[in-house]
Amino acid sequence: MVPFRTLLLSTGLLILAANTSFAHSYGPAVRVTAAPGDDARSCTACHAGTLNSGAGSVKILLQSGTVYVPGVKQRVIVQVSDPDQLRWGFELTARLNSDLAKAPAGEFTPVDNFTQVICEDAGPKPCLSGVSFVQHTTAGTRNGTRGGAAFAFDWTPPGTNAGPVTFYASGNAANGTGTSAGDLIYTSSVQLNAITAAAPTISAIVSSATSAVGNMAANSWVTVYGTNLSATTRLWNDSDFVNGGLPVTLDGVSIVLTANNAPRRGYVGYVSPNQVNFLIPSDAGSATVQVQVKNPAGISPQVPMTTAAGSHQLITLDGKFVYAVHADGTLIGKSGLLAAPNVTTPANAGEVITVYGTGMGATTPALISSQVPTTANSVATLPTATIGGSPAVISAARVIPGAPGVYQVTLQVPAGTLAGDQPIVFTLGTTGSVPVLITIR
Ligand code: HEC
Repeated sequence: MVPFRTLLLSTGLLILAANTSFAHSYGPAVRVTAAPGDDARSCTACHAGTLNSGAGSVKILLQSGTVYVPGVKQRVIVQVSDPDQLRWGFELTARLNSDLAKAPAGEFTPVDNFTQVICEDAGPKPCLSGVSFVQHTTAGTRNGTRGGAAFAFDWTPPGTNAGPVTFYASGNAANGTGTSAGDLIYTSSVQLNAITAAAPTISAIVSSATSAVGNMAANSWVTVYGTNLSATTRLWNDSDFVNGGLPVTLDGVSIVLTANNAPRRGYVGYVSPNQVNFLIPSDAGSATVQVQVKNPAGISPQVPMTTAAGSHQLITLDGKFVYAVHADGTLIGKSGLLAAPNVTTPANAGEVITVYGTGMGATTPALISSQVPTTANSVATLPTATIGGSPAVISAARVIPGAPGVYQVTLQVPAGTLAGDQPIVFTLGTTGSVPVLITIR
């Protein structure tokens, strides 16, 4: 009689092992994307049915088109859809065209608990050899969801130009029965070419609030215009903040601010090929600062910018009219100022309103320049204000938790203010903000 222990080792454990690496609602086997070197049947190696025979699809969505910049991480979304199905899964791999069966291209990083990365040997990241795969987790299958599901993850391409790369994806539009029957399997692929962007250049530096040129304030938003600034276009998002820290780089793009030979970084909120928005650190002193845009393709020539106290600006909705709200939070402005569904209504003389600005000075307690504000610290010195040339009483001015560089100021429109578009100006010390307009009823 075979000892119990040996029996377990020779059969039971083998079955267990097979289940662990090949049963799939919690993540498929490796090499079932139909890429060269993978099983050409894709998931139909186990799941019944004919590849690509249903009414759905698996799509590979690339936010900057079919290109990559060496070393610059990009977001990839795999969308599995089918009109009739209820549960979703996928597997994607990236290969160098120079050896599609064996050469891995770059590295995957999950951004939530819907995806995971496994290596050729079915182990977790980091993959020391062989190709790798990003695929669904049990949570990612979103059992019971109709129509389809999207899987987002990041891909960091090779650090140097490695020529064309191809992504291969297979998707399972499943019926949610917890078996491999009745599911529909789809495949697709897309080729990405390397682009070596030219070095960036700066053509203008303006206030993001008003588009005005001139001095800029600490803790204010500044816009840089130019060429080849970024390969991608996007705003910062939650994953760019680590422990409440403001990002100093988005998709490899950073702002270098050099004053008195000491370089430091601005905080980057938006990147695109021709425009980058950044926040000047709240502890920046008055100085002539050399501004440079740095990205993987190079660093721009220096362009001077002067930082000075009293260079605060009022934020505008359209470059001209101030961003302000009534006590109930609805927007102030002439009717039709913004496209529908936004509604704007004029302010009344005597009304207490809230106006938004940037770079309005130090707060008590002081801000930590590298951190997103978490409390509504008041400004150390209240500005003074005029509307239509008459003094308007400011009752409070503070920063907004979660909104770096943005201040909110509560003030009363002077009682006798005339109807129409009136200039509004905030003064700190001896300097006024660039006049912008507010519409009075
Ligand atoms: C080696 C065999 C095998 C391969 C290859 C395989 N699966 Fe599966 N899959 C199974 C089995 C067995 C089940 C049922 C058990 C379970 O749910 O874990 C299953 C279940 C699933 C389910 C849940 C189905 C439902 O209706 O509830 C999803 C989703 C899934 N697999 C996705 C995939 C995807 C995507 C691929 C290809 C990238 C794939 N599987 C490849 C064997 C396989």
